Amino acid sequence: MKKILITGCLGQIGSELTMRLRNDYGTENVIATDIRHIDSPVCNEGLFEILDVTNKESMLELAKKHEVDTLIHLAALLSAVAEAKPQLAWDLNMGGLMNALEVARELDLKFFTPSSIGSFGPGTPANDTPQDTLQRPTTMYGVTKVAGELLCDYYYTKFGVDTRGVRFPGLISYTTLPGGGTTDYAVDIYYEALKKKSYTSFIGEGTYMDMMYMPDAIDAIVTLLEADPSRLVHRNAFNITAMSFEPEQIAASIRKVIPDFKMDYDVDPVRQKIADSWPDSLDASCAKNEWDFNPKFDLDRMTHDMLEKLAKKLENDSVVK
Ligand code: SER
Repeated sequence: MKKILITGCLGQIGSELTMRLRNDYGTENVIATDIRHIDSPVCNEGLFEILDVTNKESMLELAKKHEVDTLIHLAALLSAVAEAKPQLAWDLNMGGLMNALEVARELDLKFFTPSSIGSFGPGTPANDTPQDTLQRPTTMYGVTKVAGELLCDYYYTKFGVDTRGVRFPGLISYTTLPGGGTTDYAVDIYYEALKKKSYTSFIGEGTYMDMMYMPDAIDAIVTLLEADPSRLVHRNAFNITAMSFEPEQIAASIRKVIPDFKMDYDVDPVRQKIADSWPDSLDASCAKNEWDFNPKFDLDRMTHDMLEKLAKKLENDSVVK
């Protein structure tokens, strides 16, 4: 992996992955792309190009122009937005992925794209969800994720494209907000804890979902992309997770830092239904055995770091304003 093109670089994952890859592989070796430009370090402090992933020719042209050897395809709609706009979600998530895989095939690129806990459904074993198990998702997001996993496997077996991927759990971070997912409550709660010392959760009591702090998610992408292919029994859609909790547990973790933090519930039926269809806790043993996946942050360590970094960010934002 020497020269990397990233799609969806302004999203929750992309905005942090771009900066990490520039740091590790050299600023001149990372081409960040998104459908829009914003005044931000991702766009201003390195190579940036506008790219609509539904336009395959533009993607191919950019990959050729910059002579990349790796494509990290992140542009996609998240679960709650995809449920509101299922046709658009299909076009963007599947169309974008197919274009990216075709570019990878034509130019012989190493390839990464994320799948998700959303690829599972209500019939999936909810606890210790195995790597290889029943997947019958009931959301459009899940449909595109399962199809994407299969498509990536297909491009590897049929065309020899070096495809790799993980099933991300809910990702928690302070740099960029997630764009309309079901697990977003676990990000929002930290913002509200600092701003108001209270939070109303749209996910109900007792709803467990897998989660991970962004530094571990970024490490997972880099480690899997650099992993020795001879050890990979699976290639795409590795189950990974760092923790599983329900809303009251994250609130309790926050109370260790902000003792008078309060939480109540106003459950959003759409996102609750999505959450109920997903597993409670994944088995990540294949990722551990095949490429040494090893997350560093548990709930309390994440809470501590998140509140500290987010407090600084909110302070800086208010100074800038
Ligand atoms: N965090 C994502 C979502 O909630 C799951 O992959 O949509």
